Amino acid sequence: MSLSMTMSQPKTEHAALLKWVNKMAEMCQPDAIHWCDGSQEEANKLFDQMVDKGMAIRLNPEKRPNSYLFRSDPRDVARVESRTFICSNSKDDAGPTNNWENPRIMRRRMKELFKGSMRGRTMYVIPFSMGPIGSPISQIGVQVTDSPYVVVNMRIMARMGAEVLKVLGKDKFFVPCLHSVGCPLEPGQKDVHWPCDPENTHIVHFPEERTIVSYGSGYGGNALLGKKCFALRIASTMARDEGWLAEHMLILGVESPEGKKSYVTAAFPSACGKTNFAMLIPPKEMKGWKVTTVGDDIAWLKPNKKGILHAINPEAGFFGVAPGTSYETNPNAMESCRKDSIFTNVALTDDGDVWWEGMTEKPPKHLIDWKGQDWTPDCGRPSSHPNSRFTAPIQNCPCVDADFENPDGVPIKAMIYGGRRMTDMPLVFQAFNWTSGVYVGATLSSERTAAAEGTVGELRCDPMAMLPFCGYNMADYFRHYIKVGHSLSEIPRVFHVNWFRKSKEGKFLWPGFGQNMRVLRWIVERSNGLGRSQESPLGWIPHYDDIDWTGLKFSKKQWEELMAIDRERIKQQTISHENFLIKLYDRIPKELIFERELLLCRLL
Ligand code: GTP
Ligand code: SPV
Ligand code: MN
Repeated sequence: MSLSMTMSQPKTEHAALLKWVNKMAEMCQPDAIHWCDGSQEEANKLFDQMVDKGMAIRLNPEKRPNSYLFRSDPRDVARVESRTFICSNSKDDAGPTNNWENPRIMRRRMKELFKGSMRGRTMYVIPFSMGPIGSPISQIGVQVTDSPYVVVNMRIMARMGAEVLKVLGKDKFFVPCLHSVGCPLEPGQKDVHWPCDPENTHIVHFPEERTIVSYGSGYGGNALLGKKCFALRIASTMARDEGWLAEHMLILGVESPEGKKSYVTAAFPSACGKTNFAMLIPPKEMKGWKVTTVGDDIAWLKPNKKGILHAINPEAGFFGVAPGTSYETNPNAMESCRKDSIFTNVALTDDGDVWWEGMTEKPPKHLIDWKGQDWTPDCGRPSSHPNSRFTAPIQNCPCVDADFENPDGVPIKAMIYGGRRMTDMPLVFQAFNWTSGVYVGATLSSERTAAAEGTVGELRCDPMAMLPFCGYNMADYFRHYIKVGHSLSEIPRVFHVNWFRKSKEGKFLWPGFGQNMRVLRWIVERSNGLGRSQESPLGWIPHYDDIDWTGLKFSKKQWEELMAIDRERIKQQTISHENFLIKLYDRIPKELIFERELLLCRLL
């Protein structure tokens, strides 16, 4: 370490951690090292610095207390799957759905990129806990980063700071997470408002070593390494080895009018409605039904001693899609980001607040858009990027579940899969049993959204909504999934939903949002051994009369269009799933082959 380097005092005697941080500092050559304590004062100082440098805008404290707006480099706006790597020792262990590189070659490549990458900047050390601090299900990571934006986001998204170092003690296990935006500053060089290095971006995982290295991007899942990199890609490999599941799922609680509480999880691909579903407000006519939120993006599911599957949300905040969020569609999300929040790539109003497409029916007359340019409703450009986001503490959410901090998690009754499907898929069906449920999850397909690079709208297979997030061979993942289910004394019921079916005229057939409670009620009742249904080729489906319609005009004719199953088209779809599954042919569990055969039989 150079003598000129200033350093805040680390409050740890963890020898391996100190050694690793020193080694990273030697390689990255920052001007200073700062050990984050996670306090509000520390965050305030960082925000002040970022405001002074023009990297952040303090929002009007009367409208949006303790909140800030950031604008990213337009080349750094979402996850980059093409630059995400799983560097297991064997290529087969990463499988055909992941980018792979030999770990030795990748380590050398990363060393070159990171050499001197933090010159002119401060290296922040962020100790964080995924899950309640001290819970037996939780895991600890330490991220070093040269991005103060990452620090203030991690502070909301994970439990961060001094408390975590205490739990880490002198020798407990942690996942080392190295991050740099890849923009060293020469002496006197002026910084840009969003440093990044898009040409050289790499998001790299070493699953056997349980380490993460991310270079070149400051945005979301590329840079907040506790989220997708740790809580999904690395955690999924831990889960495979230890008999649990790390999933791209929301967790919600449903309370019936009689006061019976059931918890369900739901896996939808990125920007397909997890946040909205996790905190839905039931229509007021459905008296006595209540939904509470445990998580909106990631679930860690472990069988407890009695063989009941329990889930925790490893995160402490929401990194939610802004466009489309409003007091109409999701009041709880709007309340969550009313204060203490960070906004990225949304528009700035003339009175110092934020706005995005869909927030209000009528747009403001004038805005500064996400690129910092003047915006008027007739200018023909969206004011906010489609993947613009708010970072908000889960504790701000009016419907946060009482057991959110429960170290044992919550018992799971049902697991739901869903995608964005304009055609073919009915509103809801229940899989016949666990293995047919795994087949439904494994063949989940969805139209691409702006949450990652690629062509928006293109239909792709996204098994369990985990295609970009599974840290090992997808076929092994299916096998593991089947096994975890069969290890349980009570197996969750499995469902598929689709809120996005459209009419020939291109209109949504289902009102969605709060009205999804009607579907959720049926799901919860089915999972508790109540609720009627009929058989269909895909699974059990509700009759029109099995749904609670109080307060909603929805005709039987509309229902039939929404629930229609076109056997020919489902057959074609099953064949297109094969194109995907064939990639995994050498390791695919035979249960899934049989499930495909059974489905085809039912479609005859
Ligand atoms: P990630 O955070 O990217 O993992 O995604 P998410 O699944 O949490 O995404 P989110 O809930 O923020 O999805 C946002 C998009 O889904 C917006 O475009 C919403 O308008 C849309 N959406 C959510 N629920 C519904 C619904 O019930 N019906 C319809 N039509 N659209 C919905
Ligand atoms: C997703 O893309 O699924 C997200 C956003 O939740 S990010 O954290 O950027 O991956
Ligand atoms: Mn997500």
